[in-house]
This record gives sequence, structure tokens and C-alpha cells, in this order.
Amino acid sequence: MKWPSHGSNPQYLYQELGLSLPLDYIDFSANINPLGPPQVLKEKWADFYNEINDYPDPYGVRLKQLIAKKENVHEDTILLGNGGAELITLIGRLLYGKDVLIVSPTFSEYEKACRVNKCTVHYHLLQEPNWGLSVSDLNLEKMNAVFLCHPNNPTGVQYSYSTILAVLEKCEQNGAYLVIDEAFYDFLEDYIPLTPLLQRYPNLILLRSMTKMYSIPGIRLGYVLANWTVIKKLAGYQPHWSVNSLAMMVGEECLREESFTLHTQTYISQERKVLFSFFEKAGFEYSPSRVNFYLVRDSSLTDQLPLFYFLLKKGIVPRHTFNFPNLEGRWLRFAVKSKEENARLMEVLSEWRQQN
Ligand SMILES: Cc1ncc(COP(=O)(O)O)c(C=O)c1O
Repeated sequence: MKWPSHGSNPQYLYQELGLSLPLDYIDFSANINPLGPPQVLKEKWADFYNEINDYPDPYGVRLKQLIAKKENVHEDTILLGNGGAELITLIGRLLYGKDVLIVSPTFSEYEKACRVNKCTVHYHLLQEPNWGLSVSDLNLEKMNAVFLCHPNNPTGVQYSYSTILAVLEKCEQNGAYLVIDEAFYDFLEDYIPLTPLLQRYPNLILLRSMTKMYSIPGIRLGYVLANWTVIKKLAGYQPHWSVNSLAMMVGEECLREESFTLHTQTYISQERKVLFSFFEKAGFEYSPSRVNFYLVRDSSLTDQLPLFYFLLKKGIVPRHTFNFPNLEGRWLRFAVKSKEENARLMEVLSEWRQQN
């Protein structure tokens, strides 16, 4: 079986499993904001058209200025990218041939970017059902870099600020970079910014995606915050004009939408509560997520394939977990979606429960 390596585009999953894609399906496999992009993008869409007959600003000055102001950092410590995915590729290049530790289960692209760049990949495996991080258990001997996804994809688990700080200290003592992927940081209701740590710790690399919160995965936009020497190296590996002007204009508008994030956080947290209370009553296990996706399983099953097929046939598309080390199909990941869509998920899971 060749499992698709990411969520979204469910036609490939159905094709691989020899199933036909139902006309009406709900895609729970991509973890983007269910409220959709900010309204302002629709309103300004025609204006964006006027800018596409010129090359993009290769330095993305306007967008960088907005990020610098929002994050209280210098513009030289920002690198824009064609989605977080491109920036992970560049970080892999930075780490060419090195020993890297990936705190797993987590997003699969870190490993891919590192392997392409001949890194030796080591894992620190988090343990279910809490997937918490114990700093004293991290073995950093020989490590040149650590990848930590926070909040973590696919568990949705948030680590405490003191834990992150302790990991950072430990990395510094061992001469290792700490790459913290904050693709979902803005879904956390009580996030403590790590940006002030950048000045003190030149080994810290923060990765941000704008495609999740602003629901613009088709546009591709992200950025790295790091010491300017790291930024300079990463920029050297990047193709010229990598970030197109449409993405930059969209990004500028999104960053001006201050209440959008708060509104999203409140919505997600309410829906998560409804879902989690259903899972408890219906006897499903779930991960202690603090964001817009979570893991679920029917603990009476060893692997979740029967449930997975049942859901797919009903037009509910979860994200499989076969390519997450230490999960290997024992859980399914779902995004928090609209109220109606979440209700449909609960309805179908109740049907499953009645039959199993
Ligand atoms: C943890 C994490 N980081 C980074 C990315 C890349 O996001 P994008 O390239 O859409 O910005 C993803 C996408 O799923 C992700 O889950």
C-alpha cells in the first residue's frame, strides 16, 4: 500500500484503496482553519490582479515590515518562503550531512528534507496517550539539530514554556540548533511568544506557516525567524522570486486581520469541547489536543483500518497515521471543521459504535 504522505486531495487516497470517491464527502484530513480565509481577501481579489504583471519584490519588504512589527523583531531576522514546506527544505540543506533528532510522531517533511541532505536521522519517541515531552529523556549526544513541532502535528499537544526553554538551553549546551515548527501556534489560546528568545539564543530557528490559520494552503506562504546569519544562509539556498506577489499581498492583508485569530481560537475551542465530550461518552480515545486537529481511535481495535474504511465509505475522510513513526496506523487524525461537519462525524461514529 502506498499511503499518501499528507492530508487533503482525498481522490488519491480513495484511488489507492480501490474505493470510489463519494459525491458528497467531508475532508477532515487537512488541518486548516474551518472558517475559511479572511473576508478581506475576497474583497481585494480584483486589486491583486493589477500587480501580477510585474516580478515580485525578491525581498518581500512590505510583508517583512508587517511581520517585524507584529513580532517585534528586526527585518533581517525574517525569511519569507513559499509555504512552511519550502522553508523546511531549506533548513534540511542548512543541516547537510549532520545528525538530527526529530521529536516524533510529527510532521513527515522534516525527515524527508534531512534525508535528502544526507543527514543521519534519530528519533525521540513521545509516548501515548499524553505524548508529553520530558527534557531529561532527550539524548542530544552528537546531535547538531533538534526538530520540535509545537503545538505538535499530529497530536495537537502543547508543551509548557518552561519545557521549551529547557530544550533550548540543552540544545545550546550541546551546540545544536533547535528548529521549532510553529505552524499551528496561532490556534493556541495561551501561547507565550518565543520570539524574544531569538536574541539570546542564536541556535533557535522558528518556523511559521500562514496557510493554516488563514486557510490559504493553495497560496503557499510561510516565514522563518532566526539569527540573521542563519537567515542569510537559508536565503542563499532559495530560488529567486520564490514567494510570488499574490502570496505576499494576501499575507499583508491577513496580518492586518487582528480579530480573525481570536475569533478562530474561540470557535475551535468550543467545537473541540463538543467533540471531546462526545468521544468520551461514545468510548473513543483522543489526544489531549489544544488546537484545530486531534487524534482518535477505537481502542477495541489494534489498528484502525476497519474504522478507517467504514468512515471513507460514508464520505468522512480522516488522515491516516501510517507515516507517523510510533503511530503506524493505530490512530486517525481529524481536523476540527464546521459545526455541521463535526455533527456529521459524530453521527457516523455513533453508527459505527452501534455496529461494533
Ligand atoms: C507541522 C507543519 N509544518 C509545516 C507545514 C507546511 O505548511 P505550509 O507549507 O502549507 O505552510 C505543515 C503542513 O501540513 C505542517 O503540518
